Amino acid sequence: MRRIIKKILLAILVVFIAIQFIQPARNKNGQILPTDISRMLSVPDSVQVILKNTCYDCHSNNTNYPWYVNIQPMGWLMAKHIRQGKSVLNFSEFGSYSPRKQLSKLSGIGNSIRDNIMPIASYKWMHKNARLSIDQKALITDWVQRSKDSLALKN
Ligand code: HEC
Repeated sequence: MRRIIKKILLAILVVFIAIQFIQPARNKNGQILPTDISRMLSVPDSVQVILKNTCYDCHSNNTNYPWYVNIQPMGWLMAKHIRQGKSVLNFSEFGSYSPRKQLSKLSGIGNSIRDNIMPIASYKWMHKNARLSIDQKALITDWVQRSKDSLALKN
């Protein structure tokens, strides 16, 4: 019996070591595109800092990678979140959205913050500074409202 357990543990260890060699590609290009939201809308520094620290990791072309992505399967999970997050909302490419889509994404941002859906829970466990205070949430939702008003005026 003890030999079987030893064998199983050894097999798990071998698999764990083997998967460390499969590292997903990094989401990082270091550029601020002309379509970046900060080039399309007026984004005050106080808002930009919050978006950068709490949303950009999954919703932009530049992820600030935490140490644990070097350990699989954590890195795979992060890569999946980034792929899914960017496909629904990419702050780096916000300017390529139609005015209508920009408006609806802004509403989505406001709602996701108000309803505590974003950033996703597992991310908040690992990133203490991504747990937004009431004041930080108000900063974002006020900015969302102002941006929606200015977009509606422009179009
Ligand atoms: C750890 C990754 C991660 C972080 C950080 C994150 N998101 Fe997301 N977000 C996702 C994923 C994955 C989805 C798509 C799946 C889902 O809806 O759960 C998503 C979906 C959304 C959507 C829905 C888009 C749509 O039109 O359907 C909005 C809006 C959003 N996120 C806003 C934010 C905001 C604002 C922040 C920062 C406060 C943020 N997210 C932080 C991963 C993340």
